[in-house]
Formats: sequence, structure tokens, C-alpha cells
Amino acid sequence: MNNTIKTKENESPFVHETAFVDEGASIGVGTKIWHFSHIMSEAEIGERCNIGQNVMISSHVVLGKNVKVQNNVSIYTGVICEDDVFLGPSCVFTNVTNPRSAINRRGQYAKTYVGQGATIGANATIVCGHDIGRYAFIGAGAVVTKTVNDYALMIGNPARQIGWMSEYGCRLDFDQSGTAVCEESLEVYKLNNYKVTKS
Ligand SMILES: CC(C)(COP(=O)(O)OP(=O)(O)OC[C@H]1O[C@@H](n2cnc3c(N)ncnc32)[C@H](O)[C@@H]1OP(=O)(O)O)[C@@H](O)C(=O)NCCC(=O)NCCS
Repeated sequence: MNNTIKTKENESPFVHETAFVDEGASIGVGTKIWHFSHIMSEAEIGERCNIGQNVMISSHVVLGKNVKVQNNVSIYTGVICEDDVFLGPSCVFTNVTNPRSAINRRGQYAKTYVGQGATIGANATIVCGHDIGRYAFIGAGAVVTKTVNDYALMIGNPARQIGWMSEYGCRLDFDQSGTAVCEESLEVYKLNNYKVTKS
């Protein structure tokens, strides 16, 4: 329970009294864990994360700093989220491609990397083994079956790329010279060989 948390720098994160944190889990300073959530041993959660209600985080999952996990998300072994990732409510990760109840595939869990600043929309599903690029944006309800480019905006089932999103979460409209300006931050982006970079 809560008295078994290994905190970094000896500062306690906030763990709601209904949440369970198993011995050996590592929780960063300033992280909050809300009602009915369960963090398993050897999970590593960075600083200033927010873990919503009814979230399950399996052993060996790694979350960077400032990761926001909305309600009802299960994050299975094999998932690694970099800093500033947003996981929308009830989004789904998988870690076995061909599960069968009677066949033990423990130890064969596929990895899924979610790059810095990426957003996964509500109720989206990420089929395992497909990495999500930095600042990619997965629309609500999308089913991701392929690796996703940095800054790509994906929707649908199977998910298809319909555009690009800025780090602020605004659509990027590239002109003929391959330049786009984020309407909110006014930051400038370049599109070259189907790769987006921030100037
Ligand atoms: C993908 C998304 C960013 C697009 O936003 P947008 O650029 O404002 O898009 P629009 O609402 O103008 O829709 C553009 C078109 O895409 C369709 N569309 C929008 N979101 C879609 C989605 N998630 N899946 C499928 N189609 C979608 C719209 O129906 C519309 O289709 P049309 O041109 O045939 O009419 C947004 O709809 C979304 O899914 N955001 C995630 C929200 C979320 O999950 N939040 C979680 C925490 S609250």
C-alpha cells in the first residue's frame, strides 16, 4: 500500500487513500494518483504526472515527466511514454498481437513507445508494436495499426493520417514552400520529405 512507495528525493507524491501502489513501484516528486488506481511493482512514473481514476499501470511500464493519464486507462508491460504524453480517457494499449487464453505468451510482450508530447485521444486503441512519434495526435476512437510519424494527426479505424499537429495541438497548414505557422504559439514548422521539424 501507500507506505511502500519508493519516492525520488524523499518527497511524497500524492496517493489517494483508495489507490494501491505496490512495493517496488517508483513514483516521481509531485505526481498525483487518484481514486481506485493501481500501480504495480517495478513501474516507473516520473515527476509531476497525473494518474486519473481507475487507472492500472503494470510492472515495468515507464512514464516520463508530466504524463497525464485520464480515467479508465490500463497501461500494460511494454509501454513506454516519454515526457508530456497525454493519454485520453479509456484509451487502450495492447501488448500481445495474437492472445489466446490457453496459450502463455508472458515474456513475449511487444513494446510500444509513445514519443514526447504525443496525445492519444479518448477511446483510441494502439495495436502493440507500433510506435507513436513525438507530438503525434491520435484522434478520439482511432485504431492505430501502424507506426505514426512525429507531429502526425491520425483518425479512424484503421487510423489514417489526415494532417499534422503543432506542439500546441493546432492543425498545421503547410504552404507550397513547406512552411506552416502554429496559430496559437506562432512557432514555425517545416515539412521536408514527409518529416516535420520546428524551426
Ligand atoms: C481529431 C481531432 C483533433 C480533429 O479536430 P478538428 O481538426 O477540429 O476536426 P473537425 O471537428 O473540424 O473535423 C474534421 C473532420 O474530421 C472528422 N473527425 C474529427 N474527429 C474525428 C475522429 N476522432 N475520428 C473520425 N473522424 C473525425 C469530422 O467528422 C470531420 O469530418 P467531415 O469533414 O467529413 O465533416 C478531434 O476531433 C479529436 O478527435 N480530438 C481528440 C479529443 C479527445 O479525445 N480528447 C480527450 C480528452 S478530453
